[in-house]
Amino acid sequence: MKSLLIKGNFISAPALGKLEILENGYLLTEDGVIKALFDKLPEQYSNIETDDYSGMLIMQSFCDMHLHAPQYPMLGMGMDLPLLEWLNTYTFKTEARFSDERYAREVYHALAQDLISRGTTRVVMFSSIHPKATLILMEELENAGVTGFVGKVNMDRNGGADLQETAVSSIRDTIYWLDECSRFKNVKPIITPRFTPSCSDGLMEELGKIASARGLNIQSHLSENLSEMEWVKSLRPDCSGYWQSYAKHGMWKDGTIMAHCVHCDDKELAAIKDAGVTVAHCADSNIDLCSGVAPVRKMLDMGIKVVLGSDIAGGAELSMTDVITKTIRASKIKRIESGWQTDFLSVAEAYYLGTTAAHLYFGDKPGFAPGNKLHAVVIDDSSLCTPRKLSLRERFERCLYISEKENIAAVYSNGVKCR
Ligand code: GUN
Ligand code: FE
Repeated sequence: MKSLLIKGNFISAPALGKLEILENGYLLTEDGVIKALFDKLPEQYSNIETDDYSGMLIMQSFCDMHLHAPQYPMLGMGMDLPLLEWLNTYTFKTEARFSDERYAREVYHALAQDLISRGTTRVVMFSSIHPKATLILMEELENAGVTGFVGKVNMDRNGGADLQETAVSSIRDTIYWLDECSRFKNVKPIITPRFTPSCSDGLMEELGKIASARGLNIQSHLSENLSEMEWVKSLRPDCSGYWQSYAKHGMWKDGTIMAHCVHCDDKELAAIKDAGVTVAHCADSNIDLCSGVAPVRKMLDMGIKVVLGSDIAGGAELSMTDVITKTIRASKIKRIESGWQTDFLSVAEAYYLGTTAAHLYFGDKPGFAPGNKLHAVVIDDSSLCTPRKLSLRERFERCLYISEKENIAAVYSNGVKCR
């Protein structure tokens, strides 16, 4: 058994809106699992190997709970278009390139490194329809130390000439991919129907059965954009709400992640809450594609589970510090729109959504709780210019708003130092 102490200023989010700040503290791990936090080091641990980050901030690492890996090469492209035009003009053409395994290797190697170097250690990710490229993505993430869920995308309609499966080939490729990816330790599969306009009723039905039979989670998109929602209504006249196009096929349950949920009506929000579905809120993307601003405060008040996603490349920012502060800004737009009737999200609340809320999805306990594998990011803010001596809380806020990836001194993922 290997014991390791980590020394520095710890800032974690034990509950929504709460910060736990431990100045000049110590965190003890055994084989990468958190054992205890100390403000004064007990005598018996004084000879243990120590990673010393005195003076720096040690935060929980970040979780990007919704992003599209094959869209990484097209960051910041087509940002003047609304969702459906953006998909057809840019996105599907870019994703089609991932039939080329060499291209996939090159892009996914860079993406995995860029995630870990920004302190993102857990992801829930869309790949493309290509099973081989999806396996390459999972391998690159695992090698870089990024953990979480990756889905081979399913789409048997409306993908255009270059990005379309048949229901039969989609299921065949999904089974092949699922069987192959059992070799990964920390990157697991998730069933991924792109969204209702991309999947026939028959394909949805088969995917729901595969998810149940193999005990797999599901991710998709929901009520992101008004034109998309109108389209779903015409495609699924049997469903009185968009959510039913997933629920009717066994996909509506605890562990299911629905991205966006910008325009859900009260019935849809109640259905999300009742089933324990998790909402992946993507503030940057929702503003870039002019989709709208999701009612996050209302969701939280209802007890809905909310996590954050960059939604690369609908969103153009990979760093979760940027996504966290965009989330705060978007909530302020909601406040202004509502005539100051709705509270915006505080810094502590947004940090919780970008960290603890998502770590809970993976089965952890809140904050730096004993029993969790260590997921942490060390930020050296000494190069940031200051007007006076700042409190740890002030430094923490600034790190979220203005630190860069160059300020990240170390990253621990799943108990292992990988940066
Ligand atoms: N809905 C279906 N596909 C996509 C996608 O790639 N990005 C976003 N933002 N929404 C989608
Ligand atoms: Fe998306």
